[in-house]
Amino acid sequence: MSEVKIIGTGSYMPKGITTNDDLSKWVDTSDEWISSRTGIKERRLSIGENTSELASKAAIKALENANMKAEDIELIIVATITGDSFTPSTACIVQENIGAFNAVAFDISAACSGFIFGLNTSYQFIKGGQMKNALVIGAEVLSKIVDFKDRNTCVLFGDGAGAAILKASKEQGILYNYIGSDGINGKESLNCPAVQISNPYTKIEKKEESFITMNGKEVFRFAVKIIPKSIEKILEDTNNSLDDIKYIIPHQANLRIVEFAAKKLKVDIEKFYVNLDKYGNTSSASIPIALDEMNRKGLLKKGDKIILVGFGGGLTWGSTLIQW
Ligand code: COA
Repeated sequence: MSEVKIIGTGSYMPKGITTNDDLSKWVDTSDEWISSRTGIKERRLSIGENTSELASKAAIKALENANMKAEDIELIIVATITGDSFTPSTACIVQENIGAFNAVAFDISAACSGFIFGLNTSYQFIKGGQMKNALVIGAEVLSKIVDFKDRNTCVLFGDGAGAAILKASKEQGILYNYIGSDGINGKESLNCPAVQISNPYTKIEKKEESFITMNGKEVFRFAVKIIPKSIEKILEDTNNSLDDIKYIIPHQANLRIVEFAAKKLKVDIEKFYVNLDKYGNTSSASIPIALDEMNRKGLLKKGDKIILVGFGGGLTWGSTLIQW
């Protein structure tokens, strides 16, 4: 059995920079409130580009970074909760956009943990020998499902896409994956309804908007519990300690969540890579965007061990241990 390595990364951010001051023109909020409660300073909002366009642009950059041709890609997974359409999948649209004619393509839905779920899924295909490579993308246009009249949520989220290319290799790369979900206790804390049933048997009483609703405090409590748990689990299962880990790339939701998690783990906050001040919470895209930023800055050196850790709606969570 071969090992599985990440051989390229890419990301694409829409051009629409929206500052906290811009938001304060739309809802009763302020830069002071948003910065002090979340660490977010600005986010990108799509100016008409849909999720597949962001995903395709991130994919092209990842292909260039990996020095690979689109036609050589065997598997495309897009993790998203804001796909262009129910069908075709966003992954199929990306397949056409980039010309990955020989790939099989599908989406997965695990909210902000989606990229971790996508990595794990493609890892299994490659490890099992069915595929030699995969393009995994986290892409969101969350501004489609954010209510810009709801100050509880609209200040948190942004749009963007990140991608990684995985390849069968003799060298070690992805060392371990851990994923989990709780559909029993968590479904009310972070929610966005889809289209309601309306057919000859079922009449809609009141049309619901497809907007994100959230119990912020509950999600906060969940996040500060699950990040340390996911990190400790992966360390325990692989006989590693935090001292062996160069960087932790958390899902970029809130700086205070990261600070709490670092304190619980008794680890220097500097070990956590944070760029949420620029992009806010981009759900499934946040981890691959951060990974690509680190890669392009030259922060990741061969042999470095890094942990990716995600959490989100579902509830879902997961972590991946990588040797770069
Ligand atoms: N601007 C100004 N005031 C705001 C506001 C905003 N954007 N949003 C909420 N408020 C108000 C509330 O109405 C409340 O006012 P009240 O005391 O008069 O009722 C007050 O600020 C405090 O709200 P509260 O919800 O207690 O704030 P908080 O300290 O819990 O922070 C979050 C709120 C959303 C920042 C925080 O709970 C959080 O980050 N949760 C996790 C969210 C998340 O990461 N979700 C995605 C996970 S994938």
